[in-house]
Amino acid sequence: MTFLEVRDLSVRFGRRQQAAVSGVGFTLDRGERLGLIGESGSGKSVTALAVMGLLPEYAHVGGSIRVRGRELLGLPERELSRVRGEDVSMVFQEPMTALDPTMRAGRQVAEVLRLHHKSGRARERVLELLERVGLDDAERVADAYPHQLSGGQRQRVCLAMALVNSPDLIIFDEPTTALDVTVQARVLGLIDEMLDAEGAGCLFISHDLAVVSQICDHVMVMLDGGVVEAGPVAQVFERPGHPYTAGLVATARLDLVPPGQRLPTVADFYDRGRP
Ligand SMILES: Nc1ncnc2c1ncn2[C@@H]1O[C@H](COP(=O)(O)OP(=O)(O)OP(=O)(O)O)[C@@H](O)[C@H]1O
Ligand SMILES: [Mg+2]
Repeated sequence: MTFLEVRDLSVRFGRRQQAAVSGVGFTLDRGERLGLIGESGSGKSVTALAVMGLLPEYAHVGGSIRVRGRELLGLPERELSRVRGEDVSMVFQEPMTALDPTMRAGRQVAEVLRLHHKSGRARERVLELLERVGLDDAERVADAYPHQLSGGQRQRVCLAMALVNSPDLIIFDEPTTALDVTVQARVLGLIDEMLDAEGAGCLFISHDLAVVSQICDHVMVMLDGGVVEAGPVAQVFERPGHPYTAGLVATARLDLVPPGQRLPTVADFYDRGRP
């Protein structure tokens, strides 16, 4: 059975006429890695939050989101939080907002473990998890408050929390955007290893096409709340089927263009059709 099946997903906020997301559909199986790209405001995060059941109450969500055949839309919050705990987890762009600033890092990991944080076993599991995400000084990190950690360390703590219950799917929303370039590369390497080791699938939101081709096997392109194109990464990036994707790919290759030479813009593709 397909692990995640999203069909004709639509999201509107409050009384706004314009849908933030409409007609979005995709499937994800265990071990599959789907990248999600598209300009700011195109509906990437809203799509991810819908799958997690984390949209605010004033969001009107339509369509269908099934995990192992079970419809999530309309499920009571208690059931949804179980899905979030066990089947699907999420890592956000800004680890500082995902962590509770008033609680030591180790305790936050223990809470997800649902073990009492004062028990010796919880401590042992927490340290084990922190070591697994490359935090060598696990003891010190566990006892620190989030503000006492670096951005990279905080994001590793979030990764540890996302791994706790061996989810089948991890959703990443720009997980390395807030980090320094060198830390970014290391955290990406870690994500790649983690997914492999767990055999977990991912929905990976990024504006960086190079990162998507490093991490993902498939990619979906969003524009104005809809999916304009989807397919294997190599196919979509090498032979984009939609002018918008072609524009994104051209922009991503900016660095490769010799100085003085002008890159085609999205408008060019629309004006003249595909080159
Ligand atoms: N909580 C909210 N209330 C009202 N409108 C929202 C809310 N969250 C998102 N939107 C709107 O939904 C649309 C899609 O937003 P979304 O955050 O999914 O974009 P995105 O593709 O993730 O962009 P970015 O790359 O900047 O993160 C935008 O028009 C945004 O303003
Ligand atoms: Mg977003």
